[in-house]
Amino acid sequence: MIPPLIADMARTHGLPPLKRAVGWMTRLLPIPQPTTFTGAGASARLGQAIGDFHHQRVMVVTDAPVARLGLLEPLLDALDKAGVATTVFDRVTPDAPIALIDEGVAHYQREGCDALVAVGGGSVMDAAKVIGLCVTNGKPPRALVGYFRGLHAPPPLYAVPTTAGTGSEVTVAAVISDPDEGRKYVVADTRIVPRMAALDPLLMQGLPRHITAATGMDALTHAVEAYIGDWGTEHTNRLSLAAVRMIYQNLPRACDEGLDLHAREQMALASMYAGQAFTRANVGNVHALAHQLGGRYHTPHGLANAILLPPVLRWCAASVTDRLATLALRAGVATENEPVEQRAQAFVESVDALNQRVGIPRTLAELCEADIPDLARAACREADANYPVPRVMSQPDAEAILREVLPAAAQPPAAASARKRRARTTPSTQPSAKPARSRKPKPTAPPA
Ligand SMILES: NC(=O)c1ccc[n+]([C@@H]2O[C@H](COP(=O)([O-])OP(=O)(O)OC[C@H]3O[C@@H](n4cnc5c(N)ncnc54)[C@H](O)[C@@H]3O)[C@@H](O)[C@H]2O)c1
Ligand SMILES: [Fe+2]
Repeated sequence: MIPPLIADMARTHGLPPLKRAVGWMTRLLPIPQPTTFTGAGASARLGQAIGDFHHQRVMVVTDAPVARLGLLEPLLDALDKAGVATTVFDRVTPDAPIALIDEGVAHYQREGCDALVAVGGGSVMDAAKVIGLCVTNGKPPRALVGYFRGLHAPPPLYAVPTTAGTGSEVTVAAVISDPDEGRKYVVADTRIVPRMAALDPLLMQGLPRHITAATGMDALTHAVEAYIGDWGTEHTNRLSLAAVRMIYQNLPRACDEGLDLHAREQMALASMYAGQAFTRANVGNVHALAHQLGGRYHTPHGLANAILLPPVLRWCAASVTDRLATLALRAGVATENEPVEQRAQAFVESVDALNQRVGIPRTLAELCEADIPDLARAACREADANYPVPRVMSQPDAEAILREVLPAAAQPPAAASARKRRARTTPSTQPSAKPARSRKPKPTAPPA
């Protein structure tokens, strides 16, 4: 008991100054940003622009649903008109599994391509980023996991996001997965930011409600974590605040009226702003926990973030009261006249309400009590190694947060009624009683 306590105290007091120092260094890192086409028809305009660059053969990376919906057509037509040969690789699946990246590399080489266009959600864009790095560096995906692991930049890479959530079209990161090990890995390199991107709301009109909701809450999590973390700059804070406002104003409408082009375009822009914010200011404890759930249970990334955002904010609210109060003003859920603590609380409650409004559950059906210690440990490791969090999460903290999103049926009766009591008052950071059962005793997801 005592050694973990000492370790937790050392982490709590030693990590924040260390990470602030790293933050000052990363501020100086030049991060390229893509030339961006925005609005209905933007993907065709991107195709015309790519046509001017005289590529011999472009590999279009996508997934089967996106291809089936015909979302590639405007881009392919424009490339065709511009005389650019194309080949489509449509085998990407959620979370960009390593085996499919290998297939993509083989496809690129077999077809003699010299550029990549990703058309799809975060999984597709991230797959394309890593395919590009593998091709130029002659290395398998695993060898590129981590920061700046490739010597060479990828071939020219262009992106057309078809979800409004990850912001991968502007970020230095790519998340890939190993389904056999139940793990997700992050590849980070400033050279994988796409050269050009198209935010085309026409391509997002058919995005199903539940994916619109989950991906939109992923964008909100990026904006909030970038804003409350320790690496925010004036510019990233401005981007985060704008994204939060746009998401509060447009996500419910995008969910209810998928065909509303204005709401879709605003969400696409908000997602990009949030991506620009977190690619410099980084994410935090919500992502550290969510990555473990994605790795172990294949929980969609946005859904995991959406469920975890309210309990994590409740737990760290006292450390970031002023910032949450400002977020409340931008979200339009509080006024200047209210005391700062009240505004901060209003923001936290509003995230819960937004989740409910767009149909996000409060608990994660797959989560098992017996998995919680492992998941919590891996989340703490990931957060410690990577994120400039405003409050360092201890093992009991992480376990308590996970227990808040544990379905009632997976809890022993005593813990379930304790949770009900907590829900009526403030959240506890204490772990609950004894473990119940495990459905999937897989290894824990690693640090991203
Ligand atoms: N690189 C980054 O900076 C970054 C940031 C956040 C998340 N991620 C990663 O991105 C991945 C998640 O990406 P995502 O949330 O965009 O989901 P996704 O790419 O996995 O797509 C989810 C589903 O939506 C479908 N879809 C996509 N666009 C559609 C459209 N317009 N119409 C209908 N269906 C459509 C896809 O076919 C897929 O079935 C995760 O692996 C996550 O870890 C990366
Ligand atoms: Fe995310």
